[in-house]
Amino acid sequence: MDLFGKDFICTQEWSLDELEAVLELAARMKRERYSPRWTSLLEYKTFLMFFYNPSVRTRQSFETAATELGGHAQFLEPSAMRLKTATTAGETVEDAAQVMSRYGHGLGIRILEDKIGYYGEGDELLREYARWGSIPVISMAHDKFHPCQGLADLMGLRARLGDVRGKKALLTWGSGALARSWCSVQEFLLVSSRFGMNVTMAYPEGYDLDPAVIAQTQANCAANGMTFEVVHDSRSGYDGADVVYARNWVTPQAYAGGLLDKKGEIEKAFQHPGWITDAERMRKTNNALFTHPMPVDRGHEVTDEIASGPNSIIYDVAENRLHVQKALMALTMSDKL
Ligand code: CP
Repeated sequence: MDLFGKDFICTQEWSLDELEAVLELAARMKRERYSPRWTSLLEYKTFLMFFYNPSVRTRQSFETAATELGGHAQFLEPSAMRLKTATTAGETVEDAAQVMSRYGHGLGIRILEDKIGYYGEGDELLREYARWGSIPVISMAHDKFHPCQGLADLMGLRARLGDVRGKKALLTWGSGALARSWCSVQEFLLVSSRFGMNVTMAYPEGYDLDPAVIAQTQANCAANGMTFEVVHDSRSGYDGADVVYARNWVTPQAYAGGLLDKKGEIEKAFQHPGWITDAERMRKTNNALFTHPMPVDRGHEVTDEIASGPNSIIYDVAENRLHVQKALMALTMSDKL
């Protein structure tokens, strides 16, 4: 299978065989982390990391991945690049992408929340870089999707559950003051449904996600003979769940004024204080694993007891980001595999 040069913007755009190839290599790289088989795969190669928004896991895991593959990851911010925007003169994406392709061997982009003026703008930007550049573009989380997180989630679930087919995943909204984007939860819907899980979503009325992603999730579940359901109370979705994924997200009105209304979204979120994953709710599950892409908003999305409990896989999933991204970078950027 030849994945060299392939963009990774959403897992749904890759075949199951392609995703399994990444996961299989990631598992080998996790088992044999410093094997000489991997440590020069990106020798003399550079991964350009373009961050519009801050990060703990994504920057550190990509930088570490480049180091462990014998390459280099270069940190870039828009403030250092004089790019053209809707309000400022500067360099076009057409020019920047083509020049970056003369230096680097892969380009990661993160653009979220307050760096976009409408939902979908970040996705458009990534695809514009992919259109003009000649190196693979990898989403490091943008407004629609977080594909590396999705694969790390799945790797974490498989490590504890084995085959996830037929298991029940609950994705539940959580309260809090972080006004989070839809990327991680939408990617989880796509990955869990694609790999054969029954999917339940629980969220207060008014917190619908992208209808196209929901339709794709339904189609994935139907194709696998699995169920997809939505509930609007904070308890019933936990019944019989094998996996609980709790996360805050903003309403579809978050960008109605042309920029993220963070204050308004936080005020709305605190109108639903009962939406927290706690021990009482987890007792209704099938001894479910708890997962979250992090950073966790403890005390709002989930209690400390659950986030730090024996069924929490949050640190395993965070670690998996490294292994998944090493595999992805090797497959898309290395000519030595
Ligand atoms: N999960 C995740 O992408 O974490 P960061 O925002 O810290 O990179």
